[in-house]
Amino acid sequence: MTMTALSLQGQDLLTLGDLSSGQIMALLDAATTLEGRQSDVLQGQTIGLLFRKPSTRTRVSFEVAARQLGAGTIYMTEDQMQLSRGETVGDTARVLSRYLQALVVRTGPHDEIEELAAAAGIPVLNALTDHYHPCQVLADLKTIREVKGTLNGITIAYIGDGNNMLQEWIQAAAQLGLTLRAATPPGYGPQQDVLDLPHVKKHPPILLTDPAAAVAGADVVITDTWISMGQADSEGKRAAFAGFTVDQALMAKAHPEAIFLHCLPAHRGEEVTDEVLMGPQSRVFDEAENRLHVQKAVLWAILAA
Ligand code: CP
Ligand code: NVA
Repeated sequence: MTMTALSLQGQDLLTLGDLSSGQIMALLDAATTLEGRQSDVLQGQTIGLLFRKPSTRTRVSFEVAARQLGAGTIYMTEDQMQLSRGETVGDTARVLSRYLQALVVRTGPHDEIEELAAAAGIPVLNALTDHYHPCQVLADLKTIREVKGTLNGITIAYIGDGNNMLQEWIQAAAQLGLTLRAATPPGYGPQQDVLDLPHVKKHPPILLTDPAAAVAGADVVITDTWISMGQADSEGKRAAFAGFTVDQALMAKAHPEAIFLHCLPAHRGEEVTDEVLMGPQSRVFDEAENRLHVQKAVLWAILAA
């Protein structure tokens, strides 16, 4: 199999902001090359998945990706680990590094995954933190490139909460030079530490509070849940998001060939209508499938290339 020259040998993947545009594009190329292919390139390796939050797509797609490259996996939840009895994140990372070749981690605070990565002697891959979701945005980028043929000149509109998805998109757009317009209700924008990153300051998102202004003429419309995992579900927050539902009327303001993306799980009738989610512009299930392909590329680049 001919692969684009790319090695992230032994590196962590905590956010796409840590990768160059060339590395991101090479991962997308590798994901396309690896699609539908099996290999024994990771035979004898074991990848741990340490998840402190639920998951459908990330867990299953990482486990299948590892198997398609010949690796074994171990799925660990907090309640099964001594973490639940107070063992530190650092000690957990040090011990798991003696058994495993990589650790895929889903947790809350981003500084926890940074602490874990600093203590681990093996690559740590971010499977979602409260701050970032790099593997998801890689899948989004692959989906957009498949439909549009290119990422050059593409305008992305993100509507909704200033959460891990928007913040990862801010990192990716800065690295790739994409136009990102984000509409969030006042008080629910992205966190200042993300906006203050030097590469983001050089290529900042366009931050708005009007969904129609964000969507106008856009090539891609993206939303995500209003209440992320670990956040308090409050009527006050839902009320603040009135007018931020992606519906047909909002999609009609985008480019006529615009596509709709959502990382899923979706909350129909809240951030998106059933009509848009299941409609002709939606690519959400291709996007979910692409999680498998990009994660194969990530594992290959970090562990095999
Ligand atoms: N999009 C995503 O990360 O889904 P899961 O929470 O099911 O992994
Ligand atoms: N923002 C969502 C993404 C889920 C994949 C959350 O953190 O719950």
